[in-house]
Amino acid sequence: MDRHQAAGALAEAVAPLTRLRQDLAHNLVRNVRTGQTALSPAVLHEDVSFYRDPARFEAERQRFFRRMPLVACLSAELPGAGSFRLFDDAGPPILLTRGKDGQVRAFLNVCPHRGARVVREAAGRASRFTCRFHGWTFDAHGACIGVPEEAQFCGEIDRNKHLVACPAEERHGLVFVLADPLGELDLDGHLAGLGPDLEAIGIASAEIVHADSLSVAANWKYGLDTFFETYHLNALHRETFKGLFSPVCVFDTFGPHHRYTFAPLDIADWPARAESDWTPDTIPLQYFLFPNTIVSVGSTSRSGLTINVHRIFPSSADHFVSKLSYCAIDGLGSAEHRAEVDRAYETARAALVNEDYSVAEESHAGLRALPAGTTLPVGRREIGVWNFHGNVARYLAGGE
Ligand code: FES
Ligand SMILES: [Fe+2]
Repeated sequence: MDRHQAAGALAEAVAPLTRLRQDLAHNLVRNVRTGQTALSPAVLHEDVSFYRDPARFEAERQRFFRRMPLVACLSAELPGAGSFRLFDDAGPPILLTRGKDGQVRAFLNVCPHRGARVVREAAGRASRFTCRFHGWTFDAHGACIGVPEEAQFCGEIDRNKHLVACPAEERHGLVFVLADPLGELDLDGHLAGLGPDLEAIGIASAEIVHADSLSVAANWKYGLDTFFETYHLNALHRETFKGLFSPVCVFDTFGPHHRYTFAPLDIADWPARAESDWTPDTIPLQYFLFPNTIVSVGSTSRSGLTINVHRIFPSSADHFVSKLSYCAIDGLGSAEHRAEVDRAYETARAALVNEDYSVAEESHAGLRALPAGTTLPVGRREIGVWNFHGNVARYLAGGE
């Protein structure tokens, strides 16, 4: 093996996530050198109706939660052939199954006989599902495999009535579903180049250590906005995150999705160090998968890698549910790793409940009181908010 081959083999041995962070470290260090951070091109003056108009909300629900792929669950939540799980958060009742062939499928959880909910258990293992109303039975492919007193009931015709399938595809450790049986799922087009990053994170090997569901009386976009700017870190999060991160950031977009690269506080010292002394594995990454999913990737410590997946599902213009999954990549390898995931979960959950979502609820009540036509400034430091609002407006106006 010559020198170049050896170098190539060495590069190959570096974990894809480390390689990605090494690349991003250069962009962060460039910002430190030039005294810059990620800024939007202009201040946005957002109309207050963005957060409270019910007609607008109905349009958003149709455009984003019916006609766009959603992360219905993590692959880890359908563990092995024969597992199933319900997914009702998008609106329509949906059943997810993993067949004997390992493939994930999605169906409307609606009996083709008279519309009853076929599966009522939230998750479990089963190779067949029997509707409680009249006892029709379906397999994991959605096929009707049993009709009581079939000869008297219907003969062949209704035996061909299967569960209605929704487009679904498992990719990068995530199960994507389109909550519209008549829609078409083009996941590559939707991910717009984000796939390699998601693959590098290794979500397929995630073990979910903590999961929770939070009910919040605020607009769903307000909930997301709290993830999309670091401007509030030192004020709102003075008990939880103050002083942990540098204000230097890098912001990249992939179609409507984005990657927000933060930096540990010591990034200020990196330009003076040899590159070999940088610590790219400490760089936190935050991905937003439009319209509602955030994947936060923490530092890779000696004990392992912790990620959290947040999904926000609206129930009305004034309410959303926030689903959290705190995961150990490659599983919990040690007690030390468990302690680290526990700490990350406690801190992040406390920040969400006591700080971000607490202020979101207060603000939502306040926004409802403001006169129509009032606008709210989104500053240039709030680049993720600016980008998200721009994409929401573009899609609602008929873009793509
Ligand atoms: S409604 Fe399901 S079997 Fe009749
Ligand atoms: Fe926050």
